[in-house]
Amino acid sequence: MPALRGVDLAIGRGELVTVAGPSGSGKSTLLHLLGGLDEPDAGRVFVDGTDLATLGERERTLLRRRRLGFVFQTFNLVPVLSALENVEYPLLLDGRPAGERRDRAAEALAAVGLAARSGHRPDQLSGGERQRVAIARAVVHAPLALLADEPTGNLDSATAAGILDLLLALRRERGTTIVIATHDPALVARSPRRLVLRDGRIESDSAGEAPR
Ligand SMILES: Nc1ncnc2c1ncn2[C@@H]1O[C@H](COP(=O)(O)OP(=O)(O)O)[C@@H](O)[C@H]1O
Ligand SMILES: [Mg+2]
Repeated sequence: MPALRGVDLAIGRGELVTVAGPSGSGKSTLLHLLGGLDEPDAGRVFVDGTDLATLGERERTLLRRRRLGFVFQTFNLVPVLSALENVEYPLLLDGRPAGERRDRAAEALAAVGLAARSGHRPDQLSGGERQRVAIARAVVHAPLALLADEPTGNLDSATAAGILDLLLALRRERGTTIVIATHDPALVARSPRRLVLRDGRIESDSAGEAPR
């Protein structure tokens, strides 16, 4: 059975959209397709006007590395690296020089309120702080879009609210497009645009509804 069917979706630059729906409804699959981590069996995915199917492996990797950022429920930080080194890592992969890496990583950590924690390793940080480091890492290269898969799934509700505050601020201050898969009703309630998936189909999209 296909994980997604008949999904026809356009997300504009600078939008913040939550994708909700029960477990198995296709949220992660949708994010993987949007981010070029997965290819659809049928249908097409455009990112910034480019049909992902027209890109080779190398070009797709570069698009992911330069234009997109990813955040996961489990943070996925490198345990032996400091917060600053974790945030620098994508710039290292992209071959940026050391001075630029350090400056941009420090700036990204400051933007998530963690300037004072830059030398700490992940195991010396709280869950909320780890996710802030992961967000700094995901936006250090100023991506067009940030794709976050259950970013608050491992956090208590107050910490989760703080993470959403941060994502809303990123969108407001930098115009980053943000797509968040979540089944947290408190996050969905504060989202400017709310999409709900069920059995791989779009059950509702608040963008198509009359204003409340
Ligand atoms: N790699 C995979 N191969 C085959 N089926 C998968 C794979 N990943 C997820 N699925 C299936 O696709 C559907 C949607 O899963 P997923 O996108 O992970 O949902 P969600 O993130 O909403 O929990 C489920 O039926 C799941 O079992
Ligand atoms: Mg999922």
